[in-house]
Amino acid sequence: MQVTFCKLRTHQWCFILFNIILFHALLFGADFVEEYFLQSLPYVDMRVLEIKNKARKLNVEPLRYNLSKLYILSQKEVCKGEDIFLLSLIFSSPGNGSRRDLIRQTWANVTSIRGHPILTLFALGMPDPGTSQQDINKESNKYRDIIEGFFLDSSGNQTLKTVMMMQWAVTFCPNAKFILKVNEEMFVNIPSLVDYLLNLKDHLEEIYVGRVIHQDMPNRDPQSLDFVSVSEYPEKYYPDYCSGEAFIVSQDVARMMYMVFKETPLAIPADAFIGICAKYAGLIPIHSSRFSGEKHIRYNRCCYKFIFTSSEMTDEEMPLEWREINDGKACTLLETYYGLVSCKLLTYLDAFKHFNIAAIKSDAMYFAN
Ligand SMILES: *[C@@H]1O[C@H](CO)[C@@H](O)[C@H](O)[C@H]1NC(C)=O
Ligand SMILES: *[C@@H]1O[C@H](CO)[C@@H](O)[C@H](O)[C@H]1NC(C)=O
Ligand SMILES: *[C@@H]1O[C@H](CO)[C@@H](O)[C@H](O)[C@H]1NC(C)=O
Ligand SMILES: *[C@@H]1O[C@H](CO)[C@@H](O)[C@H](O)[C@H]1NC(C)=O
Repeated sequence: MQVTFCKLRTHQWCFILFNIILFHALLFGADFVEEYFLQSLPYVDMRVLEIKNKARKLNVEPLRYNLSKLYILSQKEVCKGEDIFLLSLIFSSPGNGSRRDLIRQTWANVTSIRGHPILTLFALGMPDPGTSQQDINKESNKYRDIIEGFFLDSSGNQTLKTVMMMQWAVTFCPNAKFILKVNEEMFVNIPSLVDYLLNLKDHLEEIYVGRVIHQDMPNRDPQSLDFVSVSEYPEKYYPDYCSGEAFIVSQDVARMMYMVFKETPLAIPADAFIGICAKYAGLIPIHSSRFSGEKHIRYNRCCYKFIFTSSEMTDEEMPLEWREINDGKACTLLETYYGLVSCKLLTYLDAFKHFNIAAIKSDAMYFAN
């Protein structure tokens, strides 16, 4: 076998090499192009300069008292004291205490990474009548990690929730360098995320990073829940924005956004809304393919040690995977490479399966009609 392998002719070698390159191009090409070639250029005009200037001069001290009235639970004191490197705001639904417990026991059970303090809080709105406020108060007294805004936590209020929580971070946690917005169905690898942020050393400002969505269009179907009318957003495309499952902004970006929130209608979906605010402030989202967006990444230990997030984590998966990636065993370059190829390939196959099932279903609907 080995003998015949060595005897391959040049064109046969070329063919094998070509296939290897093609394989990698198919698997990683899109990520590569997005990461290095699809960046648009930031633009600066007088308005942008003015926003940046105002954000820099913003003094939140006198606003604190009035703003604290907008939150049922405002945890005014949690950020006092030491500087926080990364503040994670986990967007959770009020009735989902069991998921919050699971997150507390797994990926959020980190208070510092190599000396850099990490703070994790849960972001809630008011519960619908099915859940009692008392349960939330009890949970909050026990863990002191719940912020609750004065608005109904419904699917239609998610943009408002994002605005309220950014405002909270600017007002009550101005000493947090970076703010991670993440949903409760996600798994987050905090250590690898912190490593990434530390490597941005030369510019810790104007960071808005996540899985960037290009050329998304507003939903113009009036029947739909996230309908956006032409009067609310006249343009054909949204500006590039970071997928809302998980993204990071630096404190200065949060402050700039705070300055421009009022200029964009709340009817726009939360993640596109943040993208529009970023554009107002002259910011360009930074793409990293290590954010999963809404995809569930198939588990592989070395892959999970490398990526930042994975979506749709089940209650059973979360503790298992957390334990395994925390075993202290490092991954070699080759293992990481193999892990990435394997989890990427399996994730594509999953997407393909979903796509097929969706296609079959819609065909069935078609025939049923
Ligand atoms: C706080 O609210 C009061 C009453 O609405 C208002 O008079 C005051 O100017 C507000 N303070 C600040 C700093 O906005
Ligand atoms: C968090 O981790 C520490 C050890 O790193 C452990 O002692 C503690 O019980 C964990 N907390 C929870 C809520 O699981
Ligand atoms: C959003 O929250 C406000 C304040 O609680 C509430 O009046 C409104 O009905 C909510 N909107 C939706 C779409 O749920
Ligand atoms: C709790 O969160 C999980 C993960 O996002 C989700 O699957 C589940 O439906 C949620 N349950 C409630 C009651 O909101």
